[in-house]
Amino acid sequence: NRGHLLWDPASPMGSWRESGKRRAGSFSEWGILFSHPRDFTPVCTTELGRAAKLAHEFSKRNVKMIALSIDSVQDHLSWCKDINAYNGEQPAEKLPFPIIADKNRELAVKLGMLDPDELDKDGMPLTARVVFIFGPDKKLKLSILYPATTGRNFDEILRVVDSLQLTAYKKVATPVDWKPGDSVMVVPTLPEEEAKKLFPKGIFTKELPSGKKYLRYTPQPE
Ligand code: BEZ
Repeated sequence: NRGHLLWDPASPMGSWRESGKRRAGSFSEWGILFSHPRDFTPVCTTELGRAAKLAHEFSKRNVKMIALSIDSVQDHLSWCKDINAYNGEQPAEKLPFPIIADKNRELAVKLGMLDPDELDKDGMPLTARVVFIFGPDKKLKLSILYPATTGRNFDEILRVVDSLQLTAYKKVATPVDWKPGDSVMVVPTLPEEEAKKLFPKGIFTKELPSGKKYLRYTPQPE
């Protein structure tokens, strides 16, 4: 099983993209899909407000944003007004990204987004807080799942986008708590001689009791 390759032509996201209803991304763009339990809920409102404020940061990184909630287009439009007001802005029916109206939970079911522990008043499961990040090849690069009761940290999401984009193009990996600008690690599979050529800024190898030279740092490549 090769897991979710959500933008495959055969996948729900792929067919949604092909339906042409929304501009879901060109071939150089990255994509982020983030789901929400329900419209007009407190944590979701704070999350979408923050996502709207950070839209320019996602755009700078060439990441197309799409949210999903299991309510109607009409509800989404009305909720957008609340979210903008929460952000201290004009209560417009518009955010810098679309919200998929997954009223019948079709996508939520197909993408495994439902949270069995959070039920609505009719006993139906609500959507969990899923984050899917896709590369320009439209394949899933990262997924994070939060329960409905824990709001996401969008600074962390931007940080993982920075790591995903850096490590997609350079033979490096980002260590614990890495932030853009910090040193990165040379991937363990890269032989020493090749690493020296690829990273002219130098490689610092930390000595370890095992004598194995696997902790190899280099300044973040351009
Ligand atoms: C919220 O967005 O505030 C929320 C939604 C469902 C369950 C708990 C919190």
